Amino acid sequence: MTDTLAGKQVLLVIAGGIAAYKTLELIRRVRERGGAVRCIMTKAAEQFVTPLSLAALSEQKVHTALFSLTDEAEMGHIQLSRDPDIVVVAPATADLLARMAGGLAGDLATTVLLATDKPILLAPAMNVRMWNATATQANLSKLRARGMQMVGPNEGDMACGEYGPGRMAEPLEILDAIERTLGAGGPLQGRHALVTSGPTIEPIDPVRYLANRSSGRQGHAIAAALSRLGAATVLVSGPTQLPDPSGVRVVGVETAREMLAACEAALPVDVAVCSAAVADWRPATASDEKIKKNGASPAIALTENPDILQTLSQAGNRRPSLVIGFAAETEKVEAHAKAKLARKGCDWLFANDVSAATGTMGGTNNTVTLITEDRVEAWPKMTKDDVATQIAERIADHLGAAK
Ligand code: C5P
Repeated sequence: MTDTLAGKQVLLVIAGGIAAYKTLELIRRVRERGGAVRCIMTKAAEQFVTPLSLAALSEQKVHTALFSLTDEAEMGHIQLSRDPDIVVVAPATADLLARMAGGLAGDLATTVLLATDKPILLAPAMNVRMWNATATQANLSKLRARGMQMVGPNEGDMACGEYGPGRMAEPLEILDAIERTLGAGGPLQGRHALVTSGPTIEPIDPVRYLANRSSGRQGHAIAAALSRLGAATVLVSGPTQLPDPSGVRVVGVETAREMLAACEAALPVDVAVCSAAVADWRPATASDEKIKKNGASPAIALTENPDILQTLSQAGNRRPSLVIGFAAETEKVEAHAKAKLARKGCDWLFANDVSAATGTMGGTNNTVTLITEDRVEAWPKMTKDDVATQIAERIADHLGAAK
């Protein structure tokens, strides 16, 4: 048995659902891997599993009440929200998800969930109709948009006799998600990474904008790969159709200027990977009103956007120790990329041919050439996920060697 969670503290929030019994095994599994578990139960959870069982397995006091004199004297509820490395909500019932989405704080569980600044992993469990309800799905979208991760629910026979999605993920699946979220034991544990992804969109007026064809697939995959290796990863992304990668803090932006501000706010980091397709120009003035058709075609004057890669590469004492860019080219790929490496001042550049025939833009595969000051290395064609994994491993090797 490996100690993948050694030194890690899991705060387990248990809500009132039949799946609560599975948390007993989850506690055992986390502890087998060296992690500590502290439990909070909602009032309803006490109907399904006893505080005594949880206390016995976790070997820690189980917290149930918001206003408990002894608890507040020993450890305030805010402290409870700050101590763990991760907060796991299992089972996350429809009711608790709704209260979280609404920002309520009427009991200890919701208060701690509102106050915590740690990653939150949700393991939903409920009847299939409650899962499919528009209100539940809207609540989940809100919680995902706030950066919360989800594991499950699985599809199958339910305790209520129905069939469909709604069964809580199994303890081993939740354990796996906890390990992934914490990048347990990975070579980048303790490192901070910043990744930009997706397009930026630049408003012309309230309804129109300039955009590009970037899907964000490569950047999102890189953020996921860095997180899997243990880096605390911030993904600053323009609008995409992609789900948030697990274990990654996602900051959504629209324009290049917003992207730059979000990147600067994420510093300091050890590594920055600029894979976003940042619009080079934006309309010099965005009209506050929708531009009307009046027979003549409007001329849109453009102005240059800030260069995020260049700004991060030249950020003085806040410069990440490794700055990586991409060079999407349609011709003379290597020559243009080499010039770009020098001009931007980054350390590595991944050059790729994005001419239409390659299918790279928006596709699942990529063919990249790694260019550094003294090396040119052509990688074979592979999936964007594989490119991401290899980039993350290279980063880990580089930062490991620099330790
Ligand atoms: O100059 P070009 O757009 O070809 O450079 C591509 C690289 O620079 C990519 O890594 C891209 O993310 C980054 N870039 C940027 N900000 C810009 C333009 C490009 O970070 N405004």
